[in-house]
Amino acid sequence: MRHLIDPMDLSVEEIDDLLKLANQVIAHPEQYSEVCHGKKLATLFFEPSTRTRLSFEAAMMELGGNVLGFSSADSSSATKGESVHDTVQVVGCYADIIAMRHPKEGAPLLASLKSPVPIINAGDGGHYHPTQTLTDLLTIQREKGKLGNLTIGFCGDLMFGRTVHSLIKALSRYDNIRYILISPPELRIPDYIRVEILEKKNIPYMEVESMEQVISELDILYMTRVQRERFFNEADYVRLKDTYILDTDKLKSAKSDLSILHPLPRVNEISTKVDDDPRACYFRQALNGKYVRMALIMTMLGLIPD
Ligand code: NCD
Repeated sequence: MRHLIDPMDLSVEEIDDLLKLANQVIAHPEQYSEVCHGKKLATLFFEPSTRTRLSFEAAMMELGGNVLGFSSADSSSATKGESVHDTVQVVGCYADIIAMRHPKEGAPLLASLKSPVPIINAGDGGHYHPTQTLTDLLTIQREKGKLGNLTIGFCGDLMFGRTVHSLIKALSRYDNIRYILISPPELRIPDYIRVEILEKKNIPYMEVESMEQVISELDILYMTRVQRERFFNEADYVRLKDTYILDTDKLKSAKSDLSILHPLPRVNEISTKVDDDPRACYFRQALNGKYVRMALIMTMLGLIPD
């Protein structure tokens, strides 16, 4: 049985197949409306979510399947002291596949060791978020027509942003990508990405503090919010939260075909005035998240139609 815990659990070929399938779903959604008839997806969310949980649930519904689950740890038996091992062994009796989000790094991996059904990591602490990565890859491919030969700027909270860690790791297998990592010194990318991925694979990157200094070089600007819930103290969060605010003025020096991505939720880091700029891709990106999860659910359940 396969689980999806780390973005590297999928080979480049498997990612390619998933993106192709997602594009087919986008083109002909009606052909997929009964594929998961009689199947159930459980969403076990021990941490808040809007897009990830609802797009998983919408994806399963659009495949003709059903959904069950909980949206906060408070409404589960975790509050009574149940371990994730026990929770998934029980939920595995009721559902065919499980999407789990948890504030502790590694919790979905631990759960997968005892689960009778496939587990999808829907975000584990500041660690990884592989289905957001699939969403981001589909978006880059659809916006740019390619997944290589790009200069990508990651901006904001690169320390705690799990979507950033996941996407850099997945993209490290594509050709000729240059990274510009834009963050305050306190929120730089952790060593398990900088040293273990970028340096080990000799991938070109630079770390800078100013967005203005580099924005004209970028093909993709991946904005992130400062991850308040992962800070050790509120004063540091308050000091750092508005370090970067992308506005129409800063975009004047950007390329005309820049793609602006953001996993959302947005706090202050992108002015709402930017939303009307054709370079703003983040709402299309959120929609892509549903389609790529449809492709993933079908693939993991072995239900891809001929
Ligand atoms: C992200 C997450 O949960 O890591 N959101 C999402 O899934 N789209 C980003 C974030 O919370 O900042």
